[in-house]
Amino acid sequence: MIIGVDYYPEHWDKSLWIPDADLMAETGVKLVRMAEFAWCRLEPADGEFDFSWLDEIIGILKERGIGIILGTPTNCPPRWLCESHPSILPVGSDGRPNPIGIRGHRCYNDPTFREYAKRIIKKMAEHYKEEPAIVGWQIDNELEANICYCDTCNQKHRKWLKNKYRTLWNLNHAYGNVVWSGEYSTWEQIDPPYGNYNSAWLNPSYMLDYRRRCAEDVTEFCHFQADTIRQIIPTAKITTNTWFCENMPDFYSLFQNLDYVSYDNYPTTSIPSDPEDIYTHAVHLDLMRGIKCENFCIMEQLSGGMGCWSPMSKTTRPGMIKGYALQAFAHGADTVLHFRWRTATIGAEMHWHGLIDHSNVPGRRFEEFADLCKEADQLAKYRDTKLVSKVAILYSVDSEYAFKLQPQTDGMYYMEQIKLLHSAFASYGINVDIIDQRDDLTGYQIVCAPEIYITEEVTAHKLYTFTEQGGTVILTTRTGVKDLNNNCIMQPLPGIYAELAGCHVEEYDPIGYDTVQIKLVDQSGTEPVNRMASGDTTQSEAAKRSGYTCRQWCDILEPDTAEVLAVYDSEFYQGKAAVTRNTYGSGQAYYIGTVGERAFYHTLVRQILEDADIPYFTNLPDGVEITTRTGKEQAVLFIFNNSDHIQDFRLMNQALSLQETIQLQPFEMKIIETGL
Ligand code: GLA
Ligand code: ZN
Repeated sequence: MIIGVDYYPEHWDKSLWIPDADLMAETGVKLVRMAEFAWCRLEPADGEFDFSWLDEIIGILKERGIGIILGTPTNCPPRWLCESHPSILPVGSDGRPNPIGIRGHRCYNDPTFREYAKRIIKKMAEHYKEEPAIVGWQIDNELEANICYCDTCNQKHRKWLKNKYRTLWNLNHAYGNVVWSGEYSTWEQIDPPYGNYNSAWLNPSYMLDYRRRCAEDVTEFCHFQADTIRQIIPTAKITTNTWFCENMPDFYSLFQNLDYVSYDNYPTTSIPSDPEDIYTHAVHLDLMRGIKCENFCIMEQLSGGMGCWSPMSKTTRPGMIKGYALQAFAHGADTVLHFRWRTATIGAEMHWHGLIDHSNVPGRRFEEFADLCKEADQLAKYRDTKLVSKVAILYSVDSEYAFKLQPQTDGMYYMEQIKLLHSAFASYGINVDIIDQRDDLTGYQIVCAPEIYITEEVTAHKLYTFTEQGGTVILTTRTGVKDLNNNCIMQPLPGIYAELAGCHVEEYDPIGYDTVQIKLVDQSGTEPVNRMASGDTTQSEAAKRSGYTCRQWCDILEPDTAEVLAVYDSEFYQGKAAVTRNTYGSGQAYYIGTVGERAFYHTLVRQILEDADIPYFTNLPDGVEITTRTGKEQAVLFIFNNSDHIQDFRLMNQALSLQETIQLQPFEMKIIETGL
């Protein structure tokens, strides 16, 4: 495992550079990311480049054996450029250019911006092409698929639509523009979503296409930069740092042309008091690994309390700095860079805490970081290990967008059911890949396909074939609802998946924050049974029950060929099916028609693991996560206490003949090598 830091030499007096680099080297820092916001210092005036300061700090770090990831500075064009070419500024929904002063003030599509961006990237690449200390390049910073309302983007959008729909009739028809007399009679009438309206008031087809085009543009902008670097340094290792933002890029296409995935990992420092809150960041790590199904990098990792645009959060609790970095490694992040070396004393982010405080006196957090660096060296022997998963969860950028555009019911958000299923499998120590719903399913035994809201035939086809050939699929509520245009399908839900699920939705009840009860039934559909849980873990203490509380959504199910696993136990649909299982070909398809409490998923998942004959860990207390990284000669277990209290338990896994007493301090990771 390689540990690094994010560093901003341009923010500090030069007299600090050598002491900083000395302390980095002494502590075990191997990698530094720099320069992603430094355009005004790299090109202080139009065409006047100054790399001398960057050369100097690179030299200082290189002398100490520290490698560099260099950022392209396109996130923050300098003021002189904004002044001489105001067209480079993105335009807001009020039709006015965004103010300078907050970063991200550039329109990806503006041709002048592209020219200047290309010029500085080329200059940097040419200047550093022979520099061996530069081990990687980061493009821009946290690229978002945001909507720019400038004329260039508007024209581009019209062109994109012309290309997609060919005729206005097709477009009007696809969008259902007859509603509220919205039919276009010329292409020029197509505007971006001006004004500050809630997206739900706007046409959902139009809005989804808007998001798609912006996502394509940001991907193209990123690839344009990668190509520019590669023309000069064909062997450059290029990435961009991504995160879960409001205007998410399409992760899968964004990274297609890049060498590896980088993620900015800021787990919360406050532990939720409600046990129903899913407190694991592992889900995001598994999604990041799943983008390329390869190990990845954390470009920015939590170091201290966060604040700036929101009030400051709690500081990192003892164990979090080390524990969360090791958790990332346990999920496939081989490189972790901490954000940031020292907390800024200047600028808008001065309250987002780094490893060292404003005082420049290394304290408790730094000590823990130093300890992490030591442990990371010992983990180098696991570099060639990878996570191999039998369980996948499908993710869809389109469905997540569509959920954001049209809220389903109070409290329901796209990621929640992914998280519930993920945390249930994680609680049994099962590796889970979160993958694009268009990905190949070969090698998996269980595929969770929650909320396949936007219907894609290719996904449906894959899931039918996968089940037919013996796989287990878990479908959930809000599946098969929309077509590719984000319009509702005139068919009983779950639409194209009805035959696979072996049931259909008679009616649904979006109950929001209200709750209903469900109870497990035997196959005759009447008696509650406990056969799903044997009750030897903390989770299944709760899972021993046959009744569970559910919220948000109730699909009132009518089985066709499926058997009923649980029925509603309250409301006017008491006795009607809530959860079903269908045999399809040699496989099984589950349909979960509501959103249960966590214990329900633990119960169900345990039965599914039993049926699929997948070995799992029993006895894991709530908050303990296990992943396995497998190499050529051995498998390595990473046992992580994702809680703020000591965990004492017996680790049990029959398949691995493991029986061991484990005690974990808060956020502690234990590593156990096992045979293959
Ligand atoms: C993001 C950005 C960083 C910094 C941090 C913390 O992840 O990439 O530049 O702003 O947040 O504020
Ligand atoms: Zn624009």
